[in-house]
This record gives sequence, structure tokens and C-alpha cells, in this order.
Amino acid sequence: MLTITKALILSIACFFSLATPGSAAVGLLSDVEVLTSPSGNIEISFLLENGKPFYAVRESGRSVVTASQLGLLFQNDINLDRNFVIQSSQRATELRHWEQVWGEQRLIKDHFNELRVSLSSAIENRQLTLVFRAYDDGIAFRYEVPQQPGLASFIMTREITEFAFANNKAWWIPAYKNDRYEQLYQNTQLSDIEFAHTPLTIEGDNGFYAVHEAAVDDYASMTLKGEGNGRLSCDLVPWADGSKVKGRTPLISPWRTIQIGRRAVDLLTNNMTLNLNEPNRLADTSWIKPQKYIGIWWGMHIGKFSWGNGPIHGATTERAKTYIDYAKSLKIPAVLIEGWNIGWDFPWGDRFDFTHATPDFDLHGVSGYARKQGVQLIGHHETAGAISNYERQVDDAFKLYRDLGIRIVKTGYVGNKVEGGEWHHGQFMVRHHRLITETAARYGIMLNIHEPIKDTGLRRTFPNVLTREGARGTEWDAWDAAGGNPPNHTTIIPFTRGLSGPFDYTPGIFDLLTGQRLGFNRVWTTLAKQLALYVVIYSPLQMAADLPENYVGHPAFKFIQDVAVDWEQTLALNGEVGSYVTIARQARATGEWFIGSITNQESRQIDVALDFLEAGRTYCAEIYRDAPDTHYVTNPLTFEIERLLVTKTSILSMALAAGGGQAVRIVAANDCF
Ligand code: NOJ
Repeated sequence: MLTITKALILSIACFFSLATPGSAAVGLLSDVEVLTSPSGNIEISFLLENGKPFYAVRESGRSVVTASQLGLLFQNDINLDRNFVIQSSQRATELRHWEQVWGEQRLIKDHFNELRVSLSSAIENRQLTLVFRAYDDGIAFRYEVPQQPGLASFIMTREITEFAFANNKAWWIPAYKNDRYEQLYQNTQLSDIEFAHTPLTIEGDNGFYAVHEAAVDDYASMTLKGEGNGRLSCDLVPWADGSKVKGRTPLISPWRTIQIGRRAVDLLTNNMTLNLNEPNRLADTSWIKPQKYIGIWWGMHIGKFSWGNGPIHGATTERAKTYIDYAKSLKIPAVLIEGWNIGWDFPWGDRFDFTHATPDFDLHGVSGYARKQGVQLIGHHETAGAISNYERQVDDAFKLYRDLGIRIVKTGYVGNKVEGGEWHHGQFMVRHHRLITETAARYGIMLNIHEPIKDTGLRRTFPNVLTREGARGTEWDAWDAAGGNPPNHTTIIPFTRGLSGPFDYTPGIFDLLTGQRLGFNRVWTTLAKQLALYVVIYSPLQMAADLPENYVGHPAFKFIQDVAVDWEQTLALNGEVGSYVTIARQARATGEWFIGSITNQESRQIDVALDFLEAGRTYCAEIYRDAPDTHYVTNPLTFEIERLLVTKTSILSMALAAGGGQAVRIVAANDCF
């Protein structure tokens, strides 16, 4: 009791000393609740100031977020942000471990302290509960709105939630722009932000913080509005009619989260987003299998084939069979086929037909051939944002695929708005993606969603959602009018977009100069960096994205064949946002280790201690590295392969070329030579 009182007093002092000007009124002791994380390093203070709810966050005694307001506003002047008193509060502690169906880490620890504060307002006749969770590596909170007069059904007009950081630098992409999340990251002061997507990553004075959200089930997604001087506020993506969230009470909001790490790499193994989602709902998950694929895909992006009908139509029966033969001989289990169905002749939209093929594509013949060759097909549904057209057909479309033995479907939502005016990230699309996810699960279909809504951890509840795109992937290296992804892009992604979940980056381009030859872009990496991306950018579905003929007989392709897609554990070894990053992952099935290290436009030397290996064993490291003369602009294709015996005490000295990388497979010494 004594300790709690001391903590409270200390906290009130800190809370007010760091509050913004104008928030001078001092609350009563009974208006403050303090929650600390299990090991005590992180502290959330909740406070009512003149009846208004606020929170603040400290890490190891240092401020992360100063007094920040909370509350929800609804139509008809119903305000859940004022005149409150604390009705009751409850505390709980949880410590549990759970196993992912697939993932970057098999076993996940979920350990937090929780505080539920129930507020009531006699003046407004209102009730609101705030739930806070303090983890040792971050905080989360959410709103619960019980049933109450006037709110049986509701239209929310604003969520007030603020995040008052110091005005540090952040890595972020703008919201409400064309091309959805497919933007280059900016590194500016927080005060330069107008609207930003989450995850947004802040370089604080004492650590790194990432603001995101978890469990967006039936709500709008959150963007962050810059309020100046480091203060951000929640800006919910609206419906076309301007409302923010529509529904019925009881309402449970998504979790608002701040991941906290001393070093940037500490953020990379933070599991809060997954922990804050509901457990797996699928009784049988035996059909869900991470894997690799090639596809009739890059050819379209570099202009060699077309999606639509015509002389260079990509998805013909003959080409599909050739790609199936390639998959078999390259030992890649699956082939994606885009452009096989009706509707690809411009303009793309509600003419897409998801069950009928173009005259030059024999769906049954191709799928039968694939089955005979032991190769899986990955189906494709480009909706072009014509949502009702897709929803009308989706049951038939998934059933058709399932009957043909096609268990993975890539979906797509190109276009700046969907359904003639809705944002990709509003509640309209949250509901749509949920519908498609649940429908796919019913038909035993795994999903790879392009132009998706951002990941907020749904993969825990529905592990059939394998991966998403939702950031600038390799395709931008084919046709971006501004020249493609600069070399620092992939060194930012793990610390930003990567924090939300798997990313189908579509790596593996070996012919880095094809695009340039065809009058398009080129890919601004070295060849070894393309290999390293398979380890650095996590996805349970990994594409070998180049034209398959470029892989035939290529010695570096062995790494793509060998690299795992499902992991026992992941270690973030080193990195600085936008400069370099090194990740080690242990394969779930074989126990082999893989390391990927990448750099931006600068060459650099990275030393990696192999102290995560088992003691007393000798291993073989198969190293794919940039050659001494490699440079991503002048000489991107040269590389070296070396095999070395290593042990737990070895240090790998990695020389990364400018724009380069290194990929390493570590296996039992016997498997080496
Ligand atoms: C954009 C997607 O990201 C890409 O993968 C796909 O090939 C095209 N849309 C066509 O659906």
C-alpha cells in the first residue's frame, strides 16, 4: 500500500510537471491511477483533470508521452470526454505463452499488467471504460462503451486520443494520399506531420517508440494528425459520408499501442500487436502452409506481357504450363497466375469476373496439369476496388478455386479509392477485409492481400491471412515514374511497415537491369541484397519474383531454394533505421539458421557474433555476398559464394557493398561439403 501511494504521488508530480501549458488544474488523489509493467520499467498514469480523462507514459523514469487527452464524440452531441468521475477500477496481471500457427517466432510470451477504469458522468448520464495494459516493451489502451441511453446505435464523429511526444524525429508516410501506403518514408520532426499512417516510428532522446494499433475489428483505422510540437492525435479514416465509425453498443475500440525500445532493433521483436488480438479461431489449421512461389507477374510489370487480352497476354494456357514446369524444376512449390480471368482489358473495375477465364486460358486444364506435376497454383482476384462486384462473386470464386485444389489466393485493390469514394482504410474496408478473410477461411483458402488495409494482428485470429503487400514493393522498381525504390527503402521498412506484420515484398530479382533495357526502371540493389531480403523482410509467402528463366542454372538461386519461410525464432542483431539492419532467423522445420544483412547506399562492414548457435557444435556457413567490386549502381550483379566452418564463438565479418547485402545459411557441418 505504501509503495502504491508513493508511486501515485510521484506520478502526479511528474504528470503535471510535464503537462502542456493550460492544463494547470490539479486533480484529487482519487482521480489518479498508476499502472506499471511487470518488471516496473514502464509506467502509465491515468488522470481525470476537471472530469476529462488523460494518460501519460514513462519509461525508466523518463517521459515518453506527457498528458494526453482521451475521449470519444458521437452524433447528437453525445460526448464521452468530459464531466467524468472514476466509478471503479480493477487490476489484473497476465502471464501466458502461446504458439503461433506460423510466424517469425513459434512461442510468444504475453505478460502484462492491466488496469480497467470505469468512468461515469452524472451530468451527461454517460459511461465509459478505459482499459490500459503495461508491457515491459510498450503500452496499450482501448475504449469500451457499454450500452446506454442514446447510444444503442451510433455514429462516432471523433476519437480524441492524443499522443503528446517530445518533438523528436520520426519515420513516417503520409495518409490520405494516392497510392495508399505505397509511399517513400520521410524522416522529419513530428511537427512536420500533417497526417501520417501507422506504424509511425519515433527516434526519441532515450529510445525508439512506434505508434500503431491492434485488433481493428469493426472500426475505422487510425491515422495520426500532427498537432504541432510533437503532439499527435488520432484521426480516424472517415466513410465517404464523413462519419468515422458506425455501430451499436457495446463498442470495444481497437487497442492504441506504443511499442518502446531502447534501440531501434528492439522494436523488431516486439509481439504486442499479436498479443492484443484474439487467439486463433480456426479449428483445423493443418491446411495453412507458408511457402515460396514464382508467378506470371514480373513479366507484366516490366511490360513483357500484358494482363489484358492481346498479342502479349501473359496468362495463356501454354505459358502457365511452362511456368508450372519451371516451378517443378526450380523446386519452388507454387505458381501465381495473374490475368487469367475476364475483366483485365482497361478500364479495370466492376467488369472483373472471378470465375470465367479468357478464351486463351483453360483453367481446368492448367489446374489439372499443375496437380499432375505436384505444383500448387496461387489464384488471383484483382478487384480494382469494385467491392460489391467482388463480394457478389466471392463465394463462387473461392469455391471454384477450392474445387480445383487452389488453396492460396492473392487479392488486389488497385485504385486510390474503392467503391466510388471510400478510402482503403476506413471502416467500410475493415468490414470488407473481415468478410473476405472469414469467407476464405470457410473455403480453406489462404490469403495474400495486395493494396490491403494495414495489418493490426488479424493473422493471429485468422491465420489463413498469410501476408499482405501494403507498402512499396519490388513492382515500383519496374515502373515508378520517379525511378523506383531507393536503396534505403528496405532498411527503413523493417522498422516501420514491418512492425505491423508480414510484407510480400516480392524480392528475388536477379536480372536487376532488365527494366532499364526495356526502357523502364532498374532495381537499385545488388544481387546479394536481393537474397538477404528473404530473411530481412518477413513474409510466410515469399516470391521468387524474377522471370523464371533468369534462375535456371544460376548459382545464387540455391539460397532462394534453401531459405525457410516459417521460423522457430527471430533475432534482430543490429541496425539503424534507414542505414542497415541484420536479422537472424532459425527455421522451424529444420533448425537451420539464416542471416540477412542489408545496407542503404553506403557500403559498410558489419560484424555478426554467432553466439546464438549451440555450444560444442561445428556448423557450415554458406555465404552469399557482394564481391569486392560490387556497387549497386555501377556493378550490381557480381557476388561471391563461400563456405566456412563456424561455431558459437565465430564472428562473421560481413562486407556489404553500397546498396548491397549478404545472405547466410548456417547448417550442420556435415551438410556443407
Ligand atoms: C498491384 C499489385 O501490387 C501487383 O502485385 C499486381 O500484379 C497488380 N496490382 C495487378 O493486380
